[in-house]
Amino acid sequence: MKRTIAIYPGSFDPPTLGHFNIVERALKIFKKVIIAVAENTSKQALFTFEERVGLLKKIYKGSKSVEIDHFHGLLVNYAKKKKAKVILRGLRTVADYEYELQMSFTNKNLFPELETIFLMTENRLSHISSTLIKEIAYFGGACENMVHPQIAESIYQKIQEKHKK
Ligand code: COA
Repeated sequence: MKRTIAIYPGSFDPPTLGHFNIVERALKIFKKVIIAVAENTSKQALFTFEERVGLLKKIYKGSKSVEIDHFHGLLVNYAKKKKAKVILRGLRTVADYEYELQMSFTNKNLFPELETIFLMTENRLSHISSTLIKEIAYFGGACENMVHPQIAESIYQKIQEKHKK
């Protein structure tokens, strides 16, 4: 599979250490991972679409095997555009399973050549969620053990800005 490109889609609001761990491990399997920031219409975002792309670009600056991109609309159309046939997703607990199963079946239905490959989130990271990170930071808690330090800084800054409004 070392010749294969995998698309790792998500809202990444914000990207967490769990996401980065999935990317790091996936690079041992795939030639390249494209982290594709999607607009998830069902979630209330802290960071704008552009800000999330910017956060990821800062982290992976200089990396030849990780590309940061974004897409609007259906993931399958984006995968076709990128000529990629593998979607990468992380699974944390059984709670993720049903949601992920439904998404992978739906995507396969729309684009039968597309395969979704799941990596199990490492145990030490499986409690992490972007929503909980935002909540912890909002109430003044520390989230440095769940996100990259640069991203933690941006979360605190963003929450302060929102408080001022
Ligand atoms: N470790 C720790 N946490 C992880 C993780 C990991 N390895 N992988 C995911 N998470 C967490 C995230 O923190 C996030 O937490 P939250 O629910 O509290 O926000 C959650 O799991 C999932 O977020 P994320 O990984 O950013 O993905 P998502 O579920 O928001 O992404 C899309 C969904 C974007 C892939 C999907 O909506 C999509 O494809 N949209 C495009 C439109 C489309 O094609 N729709 C039809 C799809 S069938």
